[in-house]
Amino acid sequence: MMSTQNTKTIVSTVECYDAWSNTYDSDGNILQLLDNVAFEEIAQPLLNSINQNSTKQICCELGCGTGRNTTKILHTGWSIIAVDISTCMMKKAQERVKQLEEQHMSSVSWIIHDLNNDNNELSINDSSVDAVISTLVIEHIKSIERFFKTIYRILKKNNYSWVFITAMHPNMYQAGSQAGFTIDKTTGDKLCGISFDHSIEHIIETATKTCLKLIKYTEKGVENEEHATNLGIRAKKWMGINIHASFLFKIQNNEI
Ligand SMILES: C[S@@+](CC[C@H](N)C(=O)[O-])C[C@H]1O[C@@H](n2cnc3c(N)ncnc32)[C@H](O)[C@@H]1O
Repeated sequence: MMSTQNTKTIVSTVECYDAWSNTYDSDGNILQLLDNVAFEEIAQPLLNSINQNSTKQICCELGCGTGRNTTKILHTGWSIIAVDISTCMMKKAQERVKQLEEQHMSSVSWIIHDLNNDNNELSINDSSVDAVISTLVIEHIKSIERFFKTIYRILKKNNYSWVFITAMHPNMYQAGSQAGFTIDKTTGDKLCGISFDHSIEHIIETATKTCLKLIKYTEKGVENEEHATNLGIRAKKWMGINIHASFLFKIQNNEI
């Protein structure tokens, strides 16, 4: 363990998610609920649309976690390359998609990989995937320059390719919050991984420098008392604050 501050214990990101994997899907995380809405609004229509130029569309999911979105992608018939650093999170995802793979005749390839490891390039071919999805992962990424370079490298360079990224909004980080889970309900002690405070501007600027063009940006928050009640007990303290951000990028025209 690296350090303990107030009620937050900071451990390596992989240690955090390995431990969190058992409760990640059931601990009432409001960001996941807002993320579902953003996914439905932005990624789902793109997954549903058929690209006549590609026989089998491939989506790379960076930080697939427990497969919360992997199953949604599989339902649309895309093939998936799912990447994560945590074997425990990925194991949950593998259990989740097992039956679906047969039903949808699509497949998932699994890659355990640390996106922060400068010495180890992600083993996916250049210009080989039609879309990249990465939800609620970017706060753990040390160098977003390298992150976007990898995304750009693996994306097919055409008008159809797209990238959907969501993030915990920096408003939350600045209020002292970061990805982690409660390990002691009475004290509220949390176990957290390593997080980085990337501003929205920095994310967009970096993507733009990496030849990706911002197509859509949205923020979501806890709108009012009723919305807070619907989202659950943990939503009240965030009322009136935007806590979720989502980005849709495409390849810049001059790179196609
Ligand atoms: C908050 S979870 C999001 C999981 C899933 N995308 C979702 O939206 O439910 C963050 C995920 O990113 C993974 N992750 C964090 N740092 C990573 C890294 N450096 N390389 C690869 N995966 C990483 C974690 O293991 C975890 O599964």
